Amino acid sequence: MTESRQYHITTFGCQMNKADSERMAGILEGMGYLFAEDPNEADLVLYNTCTIRDNAEQKVYSYLGRQAKRKHSKPDLTLIVAGCVAQQEGESLLRRVPEVDLIMGPQHANRLQELLEQVDSGSQIVATEPIHIVEDITKPRRDSSVTAWVNVIYGCNEHCTYCVVPGVRGTEQSRYPEAIYAEMEELGRQGFKEVTLLGQNIDAYGRDLPGTTPEGRNKYNLTDLLYFVHDVPGIERIRFATSHPRYFTERLIKACHELPKICEHFHIPFQSGDNDVLKAMRRGYTHEKYRRIIDNVRKYMPDASISADAIVAFPGETEEQFENTLKLVEDIGFDQLNTAAYSPRPGTPAAVWEDQLSEEVKSDRLQRLNRLVNQKAAERSERYAGRVEAVLVEGQNPKNPNQVMGRTSGNRLTFFEGDINELKGTIVSVRITEVRPFSLTGEPIEALVTA
Ligand code: SAH
Ligand code: SF4
Ligand code: F3S
Repeated sequence: MTESRQYHITTFGCQMNKADSERMAGILEGMGYLFAEDPNEADLVLYNTCTIRDNAEQKVYSYLGRQAKRKHSKPDLTLIVAGCVAQQEGESLLRRVPEVDLIMGPQHANRLQELLEQVDSGSQIVATEPIHIVEDITKPRRDSSVTAWVNVIYGCNEHCTYCVVPGVRGTEQSRYPEAIYAEMEELGRQGFKEVTLLGQNIDAYGRDLPGTTPEGRNKYNLTDLLYFVHDVPGIERIRFATSHPRYFTERLIKACHELPKICEHFHIPFQSGDNDVLKAMRRGYTHEKYRRIIDNVRKYMPDASISADAIVAFPGETEEQFENTLKLVEDIGFDQLNTAAYSPRPGTPAAVWEDQLSEEVKSDRLQRLNRLVNQKAAERSERYAGRVEAVLVEGQNPKNPNQVMGRTSGNRLTFFEGDINELKGTIVSVRITEVRPFSLTGEPIEALVTA
């Protein structure tokens, strides 16, 4: 019955959503659905949504509105809202867009098939109750054939006062090390070269798993996991995100230094460079502690890339406090920084505080921070000029078919002349001839690892 039906998925938001979308696409293909690039050609449209900031949520409604309208002339269209807006809005989304057939929170991604069967029997479904995420037995349809996401911990138990994630992703659930290992082994067998281990607060990995060492340490924390999965055949590179400064350890840094497959890149959001703001955000560290972490990383790995996230114009943030963020960025010199103006989110403590800042202040601070970020990234890129870097080739340069693109261990996007059919999935040493703030161009020298 479903043989010739086509599906389309649009994914908003972070890497977790991308990973969930790949699993849901795998489920749909297992059910016989065929992929459609264009949502307007599809019989089933799934929006995997993000609610981290208001503009992310609004985007979802505008996409959804178009498909809801289309359903009036195509009643057999199945319309699904998955992900974080689905979790946040639940039933009220059904009232707002009654054309939707299925609303499913992120914890329910692996249940797509059984939920669809309920839809097919004629009901509108809202699946947002907290559940234990069943071990992933689905075969994801991965976007890349070179790099892959692997979830290691779902959810987040932190209580940052601005953030919806704990509310929409639920409490922490670590996967067993053996399950992670098995998924990576399968990826290695399929020819994947790089794995990014994922968690909203990946440093929390293992703390909900049974079993502790005599010292009271978790039997498997992130560092143990890195040692454990490091020898998976075929996987040449391992990345992980996102690190939380509160739980980041020296033991982890040492492991990254010691283990050759771990890439020299750390994504450690700091959010603010001001201690009072950090306290109001309930982040659990000071800017001094953050600086010590970075110093420590650089002690072991002087060349490591550092990226982070920051929020400007948090409620009550003074000009002086904002300048402390500028100062931190100036002092550390990030390779990349994701910046955002604070956006009040429903159900979070900071959203109802009275000292919200104006849109003018938000956009002024964001622009000033972004200027500094670009300048610093350009300075950081300079160090690559003339150097030889190992680049894992992922695809073709979309702007120049004679070039391929890939990433250095430090996560800098790098372009060089070559044929993608020959080079995809290989690691090539490349002499860097041109540097830009967020990307590099070079000349290939030799293949280090074949596809
Ligand atoms: N777990 C990660 C962050 C996940 S959300 C961490 O702890 O750092 C990704 C980023 O979105 C955050 O780092 C933060 O910079 C930003 N963000 C989260 N909530 C926000 C809000 N209400 N307004 C603006 N930016 C926000
Ligand atoms: Fe949100 Fe904080 Fe959890 Fe990150 S650690 S996902 S910012 S609550
Ligand atoms: Fe967005 Fe949900 Fe990720 S809110 S950032 S998609 S966890």
